[in-house]
Order: sequence, then C-alpha cells, then structure tokens
Amino acid sequence: MRILGINALYHDPSAAIVTDGATVAAAEEERFSRRKHGKRPVPFAAWELPELAARWCLREAGIRAEDLDAVTYSFDPLLRLPPEQLGLSDPWDHLRQEYAIRAPAFLASSLPGLDPAKVRFVQHHVAHAASAGLAAPFGGDCAVLVLDGRGERHSHLAGRFTDGKLDILHSQQLPHSLGLLYEDATQHLGFLRSSDEFKVMALASYGRPRHLDRLRELVYATGDGGFHAAGVDWTDLAPARSAEQPWTAEHADLAASLQAVLEEVLLALGQWLHEQTGSRKLAMAGGVALNCVANTRMFADGPFTDVWVQPAAGDAGTALGGALHVAQELGEPLIPFPGADLGRGWTDPELEAALQTARVPYDRPADIAEAVAAELAADGVVAWFQGRSEYGPRALGHRSLMAHPGRESNLQRLNDVKGREQFRPVAPMVLASRSADLFTGGPAISPYMLFVHDVAQAWRERIPAVVHVDGTARIQTVDPAGEPLVARMLQRFEQLTGLPVVVNTSLNTAGRPMVDSPRDALECFGSTPVDLLAIGPFAVRRAPAGER
Ligand SMILES: [Fe+2]
Repeated sequence: MRILGINALYHDPSAAIVTDGATVAAAEEERFSRRKHGKRPVPFAAWELPELAARWCLREAGIRAEDLDAVTYSFDPLLRLPPEQLGLSDPWDHLRQEYAIRAPAFLASSLPGLDPAKVRFVQHHVAHAASAGLAAPFGGDCAVLVLDGRGERHSHLAGRFTDGKLDILHSQQLPHSLGLLYEDATQHLGFLRSSDEFKVMALASYGRPRHLDRLRELVYATGDGGFHAAGVDWTDLAPARSAEQPWTAEHADLAASLQAVLEEVLLALGQWLHEQTGSRKLAMAGGVALNCVANTRMFADGPFTDVWVQPAAGDAGTALGGALHVAQELGEPLIPFPGADLGRGWTDPELEAALQTARVPYDRPADIAEAVAAELAADGVVAWFQGRSEYGPRALGHRSLMAHPGRESNLQRLNDVKGREQFRPVAPMVLASRSADLFTGGPAISPYMLFVHDVAQAWRERIPAVVHVDGTARIQTVDPAGEPLVARMLQRFEQLTGLPVVVNTSLNTAGRPMVDSPRDALECFGSTPVDLLAIGPFAVRRAPAGER
C-alpha cells in the first residue's frame, strides 16, 4: 500500500510517504522552496500545495503518482464550522473551505497521473494524533494529547490508542485555543505569529509570572477534559511591542505569566487524560507540543512515566499522521518510526561533485568526525551537513551549526553568525550514556530536543554557552547505534576537552529555512563566519585571513 500524506491548509506545508507500513520520507516544503514555513498561514494562501516536497517523496519512494493507493489531506472541509459560529473573527476563512474542497483537483493538477478520487480528507486533529500515537515507541497503545491553534472546529484532542485504533475522549471547540492564545501573545510581544512562539517561551525565562492570577480567570481547565482559553486582552498586562522596539521586563513578565498558565492547564489536561485511560504512556503533537518547557512540566509533574513528542509536532507532522492513519485503517502493519532524518540526502560522489562545481578547496580527512572534534576543540565554528535532513523544526545532527560549549561568548558568537536575538539560547548535544551525569529533570533520552533539563550545578560553569538564564538546557541525546558519526565526534571532543557536550543549533541564518541541499550549505558557509564545513566525508575550511 502506497500512501502520500499532504499538509497544506494552515501552517508548514509538507509531504510524507508511507509504503507497506514504513515511513519512507517526509519533508517540509520550505526546505525546497527556501521560503521559511513555506507560506504565511493566511486564508489567501490556503490553496498552495507542497508540490516540491510531494514530488520528491514520490521520487524517493520510487513510485509515480498513478501508483498511489491513497493521498491524505489533513483537514476535512465537511467538519468545518464557519468562524462566526465559533466565536472567531476571520472574514476570509471561507477561502480555506473553498480551497480544501478543491484540494483533490489541485493535487491532481500538480501531480500528473494522480486520480483525484484517491484523495481522502483526514480530520486535522486525528492526523496530529496519529502522527504521535502511531509513531511513538509504544506499540500503538497510549494516551494521546493534541493541542494546536485550530483545526476544522477544535483546538484539541484527548484520546487513547488501543492496538493502533484511536478513541477520541474529548475535543475542545473553538474559540478556546491554547495555540491561538500563544499566537496572539506572540504578536502582541512584537514577534511573528505562527512562527516565533518559541521566542516567547525563551523570553519567559527572563520574567516573573506576576499576571498569573489574572490569566487564571480566563485560561483554565474545565474539569471535563477541555479548557477555557479566550478573551484575554494583552494590553491590560503589557504594552504592545513593535518588532523594532527592545523588549522590557513588562514583556518578559507577560511571557512568563502566559507560559505558567499554559503549563498549569496542560498538567490538568494530562491528569484528566490519565484518569480516563489509566495509561502511563503519553504521545503528544500539535504546535503547542513544540513548547519544550511545558513538555518537561508534563513529564516531571504529570502522571505519565513516558512522554513522547513527535519531532514534527506542528502542522508539518500531519502529513505523516494522515498517511499513518489511513495505513492503519487499511489494516497495514506499521513499521516503527525510524527517526527524524526523513528528508533529502546525497551520496558522497554527489557531494564531491557539488564541491567541484563550486570550485572551493576541500580535503577528505581520514575521519571527518575527528577533524570536526579537533576544530571545535580549537574553538572553531563548524557547519555540519551529514545524512538526510530532519523532519520538523530542530537540527538533530544532520544540518547543524556546532561550537565549543565551554566558552560563554560562543552563545553571542552563534547568535551573531545566525543574525538572531541575543536572548535566544543555544542547545547542547550529549551522548545518551552521559546525559544523566549533566542533565536532570527531563527524560533521560531526548533525541528530538523537545524537553528542557536542569544543568547540574557542577557543570554550569564548565559549559556556560549552553546554559539558559534559568539554568536549563534543551538537550539532544545522541545514541551511537542510531547516530554513529555524531557520537564519534562527541566522544573525540570529550577526549580533547573533557567535555561530553557540543553546542548544536540549526544550520541556517535568521528568517531562512534550515539548510537542506549541498548548494544551501555552500551558500550559508560562504556568507557566514563559519570555520569549517563538514559535508559528508569532506572538509571545506575557511582560509586564515593572511592566506586569502
Ligand atoms: Fe494543527
């Protein structure tokens, strides 16, 4: 059975392909089009499809559009309610309905050979739920919680998977939406809504939640599995900020208050879900599940022993979720989720050809992992391009920018390289076997950077570049079995420096999607003060100033 999943309507258009129960490929359109998030999530852009990603998925799976058994579209227009019935103000929202209804015809025109009758609409939150519950390492048995901005009429799903079958226990109807609440605050604080929510989370660490009591009057769990989250006037709490203005303590306090109330509601929803299901395993998805601070609260203070978050937890993940959902419905045995490296990859000869085309000097060290460890130990900044690119917003050792964690100034240096705000933290990657020595308070294994941990006191001085202002770090644990090259680099770096940690941030510059192709990597290397580009087995070095 060959199933192509499409996410197109709201955020982060993406495509995924599942054949014979195996996740073969998945990627966001932005990695191909080079436009961050693929498009703006406005009604006028709802018709746009992830054409490039979808065509690549077919090529990667070695099939043609006419060979597909099904195509999923992660929004069901028959379930939609108009915004005026939902208490939302969105005068152009009917365009989404128009475009979603016509999506099968649009898809058939952009994927020649596709029979439009094979397109199936999958309820938005069911696709999110499947992206978590059917990909989690729980064998198809777990509780599932989805929280995002909005779907057809809901912003949430609480349910249970049993042998891969989903029972929906509760769905919160709009206008109540924790995702829209966070988006509104993001805009009020002068950041780009539906894009920069993680900046608000980072800013929260600088503030005090002094508005928590006032927010609790409007944002609270209702005890039936749902919640109230609407009607907040942010100007009551802090003045609106424009993108050019500096942020103040008032803005940080607003962010801290919002973050605190979100965590409280999330914990209450988790408790209710556990009481209903009895499950100790929780899978999470939806844009709110990218809030790694809230995820850690759920893990640390909630009733679950295992919390798993899909790496593409936002709408991008619904391409995979829709495909997995239909595969499961069709009785296909599902093969375990292979990891986030589901995007494009290049062979060594292809990489070498790209270097020769660019006519840049390069060499092939005996071991690229060792060469990178030596460069990092000498305080160089390394662009690391290895294997297939990541599905989801985090760089996980395939398209990463790396540096020495022991120098506090490297935080500013990396933020300067990337052209981003100085309050943004950078994160550590650590061998899974060493993680518990340095980091506590979150899951010991965290391969997708979706939880934050407390940095052990004894280590804070030793790895200052990766310690956030509140003493935490958003870690990526590296398992040598799954990531042998990254693990070897980390081991070698520890031999050289005594530090089992390397700074890891995404390989891109501000406002641009992550590097995906060799050309993207060379363009990024050419325009930023990176000392070494490690691309496959090859090393491209920045010539010392005197040799240029
Ligand atoms: Fe969503």
